[in-house]
Amino acid sequence: MSRYIIEGGNPLEGSIDVKAAKNSVLPLLAACILTEDKVTLRNCPDISDITNMLKIMINIGCVVERDDMGNITVDSSDIYCGEVPCVLAKELRSSIFLMGPMLSRVKKAKISYPGGCEIGMRPIDIHLSGLRELNIDINEEYGYLDCDASKAEAAQIVLDLPSVGATENLMMASVFLEGKTVLRNCAKEPEIADLQNFLNLMGAKISGAGSSVIVIEGVKKLHGVEYTPIPDRIIAGTYIIAAAMCSGNVELRGVVPEHIYSLIAKLSKTACKIYCKNDKIIVKSKGRLRSLDRIDTMYYPGFPTDMQTQMLALQTISKGTSVIVENIFETRYKTVPEFKKMGADITVRDRTAIVRGVSRLKGAEVCATDLRGGASLVLAGLAAEGITEVKDIYHIDRGYEDMSRVLAELGAKIERSS
Ligand code: EPZ
Repeated sequence: MSRYIIEGGNPLEGSIDVKAAKNSVLPLLAACILTEDKVTLRNCPDISDITNMLKIMINIGCVVERDDMGNITVDSSDIYCGEVPCVLAKELRSSIFLMGPMLSRVKKAKISYPGGCEIGMRPIDIHLSGLRELNIDINEEYGYLDCDASKAEAAQIVLDLPSVGATENLMMASVFLEGKTVLRNCAKEPEIADLQNFLNLMGAKISGAGSSVIVIEGVKKLHGVEYTPIPDRIIAGTYIIAAAMCSGNVELRGVVPEHIYSLIAKLSKTACKIYCKNDKIIVKSKGRLRSLDRIDTMYYPGFPTDMQTQMLALQTISKGTSVIVENIFETRYKTVPEFKKMGADITVRDRTAIVRGVSRLKGAEVCATDLRGGASLVLAGLAAEGITEVKDIYHIDRGYEDMSRVLAELGAKIERSS
């Protein structure tokens, strides 16, 4: 199994071009099956979550072309079934995004319950209750969801909580339903607005994304489009924190500062200098930063849960004590024991982590347990004294394209070894 070998202590200097957001490309790929025309997505990162999503789409009859410039073209003129095989669905939670588009396109879908994962149960009750309110018949048996949308109709739906995936799924499930479907208590993440823009360019009539009320007016059909999804705010945030931890001077290019303003606001309180100009963010950091008193993960535009472990890594070497509260997922502290192997002083009680900053972490052999936790261990290794070995980096490959190359180009001593 591949691992990263890191020798900590080098400052980071240089610039990074940020590619399209994983959490936008995945629902947009699912939305490609809403039209028989060809659809092209541009500037997509080469990461395994996208590779696995494409495998699932090929399995239901899509023809996919992918070049080494990040362009992905999907032709779903011949999708022949609405069934996602269990083995593939288990591999990728985002297969659940295919339910809405499949029900809209072929009026049926058979998909296995997506697995939970390292950060929590990841239920889909809000997806299912919303689909049922659209008069979609859903049979749950033997771990499969067998859905029939032949009698689906527009409806007024209130989501129990602002779930990103459920908001996206219900938008795609109602795009052809005659009349107006109104979704309330929607997620407001930038990826939702990206999906609305993409679908409207294809001929849909959707409004309200970014607010808690989204209105979908049914249309007859959608046409093909070429589209560049929004940049990845979590990738940008991860490398911003890397620079903050390593006395860096790093420029992120092709980003939307507004999408990570909650992180920028927090870091500005730690003596890290951050400058935003159009689609660039420059981070300048020198020496040990001040701890942040408290960080609460919240729904957008609050502090993102996907940046929690990266921020925790920074707090382990900041000056002072920090309290982090994870309000979105129930078990997003699985990386804490690994940080402790490096000398971090962290106490976890339920959803709260108390972090007492130490002057320096020590290199150690650690294991990635999930995508963002794995990336955060790399950040800790970059700042630590000595050698850190991060194992099970397939977790990181799910969302970070060639992380070691990106960091080595900034001056980090990191290599990937199998
Ligand atoms: C999306 O997951 C992202 N993934 C996650 O990013 C991100 O952490 C999450 O949104 C929150 O921002 C993609 O977009 C592919 P949710 P999603 O539904 O849609 C509960 C990463 O690292 N919930 O907004 O699955 C759920 O348990 C990943 O890139 C229900 O209870 O998240 C959680 O506590 C990790 N019932 C909360 O809502 C449901 O039916 C938010 O989940 C659905 C969700």
